[in-house]
Amino acid sequence: MKVLMSQLVNPHFREMWTTEKPYIICKGGRGSFKSSTISLKLVAMTKAYIQDRERVSIVCIRKNATYLRDSCYSQITWALNKLGVAHEFQFLISQMRIVHKLTGTTFYFYGADDPLKLKSNIVGNVVAVWFEEVTEFKNAEELDQIYPTFIRQRPKDSKPNARKYDHVKIFHSYNPPKNPYDWINEWVDQKKFMDSFFIDHSTYEHDELGINDKEQLKLIETYKQNDPDYYRWLYLGEVIGLGTNIYNMDHFHRLDELPNDDYILRLYFSTDSGHQISATTCSCYALTQKGNVILLDTYYYSPEGKANKKAPDDLAKDLNQFIVKCEITYNKFAYKMTIDSAEGALKNQYYKDYGDHWHSVAKSKKVDMIDYVQNLLAQGRFFYLDTDANKMPTGVLF
Ligand SMILES: Nc1ncnc2c1ncn2[C@@H]1O[C@H](COP(=O)(O)OP(=O)(O)OP(=O)(O)O)[C@@H](O)[C@H]1O
Ligand SMILES: [Mg+2]
Repeated sequence: MKVLMSQLVNPHFREMWTTEKPYIICKGGRGSFKSSTISLKLVAMTKAYIQDRERVSIVCIRKNATYLRDSCYSQITWALNKLGVAHEFQFLISQMRIVHKLTGTTFYFYGADDPLKLKSNIVGNVVAVWFEEVTEFKNAEELDQIYPTFIRQRPKDSKPNARKYDHVKIFHSYNPPKNPYDWINEWVDQKKFMDSFFIDHSTYEHDELGINDKEQLKLIETYKQNDPDYYRWLYLGEVIGLGTNIYNMDHFHRLDELPNDDYILRLYFSTDSGHQISATTCSCYALTQKGNVILLDTYYYSPEGKANKKAPDDLAKDLNQFIVKCEITYNKFAYKMTIDSAEGALKNQYYKDYGDHWHSVAKSKKVDMIDYVQNLLAQGRFFYLDTDANKMPTGVLF
């Protein structure tokens, strides 16, 4: 059976197919041919070795071993069939191996639930490794632990051949998580600048071979109409941010110290309180003469996991100490103190002990509240002093 690769592999992947770089990352939306293209490539890679009667190893790894058989194993089986060579292989499901009968060239399938276990692997003559669904790994260190195990097992006495490789090729495939701070998103961003990495981003729209199912395309179109964010994330593979991650962090401007050419007009304090699990935070903000808002300092106390949680009078005392400290530091009295509207006990306690009223936040609709903040941020007026205290999570109330 004569198979033309160009009929199986979408043109988008041509560069990924031919790159000389050892590390290849295929990310993208659902159904964008990542897994199928990698599986075809892995099978194609074995060809030159098999022709020279050499035994090589291809290692397919997925963090979660339970899914190996239905993903990597069946994907390689699919590729062997597509390329018309499945009959040359023996399928050993219980051992999770697919072995070329004549040469012993083998596809191995491993779960990486325990990365240390993989460290002792000695299959030998490894030409390629495929990490499928890389997002399942906890962090980049888990990959770093596995790479050297296989890189050192590259074939050393292989007969020279233009279609053989002098390094182990390491493939990765995944769908980017929404959260820009997810380790994989940050990791791949760093790798963009490294010469040894080739990074591809694909979507279902790269289908020039007409593989996509018409019904599936219709369904995707409805997502596109009804929930564009969901569509962008799932089908375009874009990092859209978490639903709760509504503010663009680029708009939070870092300051090492207070600017010389501006001065503080007023100090504001805002408290978001909790008693059982959620934390109590109090932030001190400056409104400056230029109309900017600067987060100066943060008080943070989390009752979570503590046997003796602070009572309202303890918290009132802490808040008072924090406020007085800020007033002295910045030589201004608190202009306004705002607290979350659900809070009653702490507010009353504070009034009793210190005679000052906390003003309950004038809550409006959630989207409007978000809009106030976004508006301030978009005007480039928000700054924070880069101190350890200000790295604590705060409930921002204005
Ligand atoms: N050459 C081909 N011929 C026929 N079907 C194909 C071909 N290539 C891919 N497909 C089919 O297209 C579908 C999507 O491909 P694939 O699973 O490789 O996408 P993916 O990018 O890995 O998707 P996901 O993001 O869901 O993991 C699969 O059902 C696959 O079997
Ligand atoms: Mg896939």
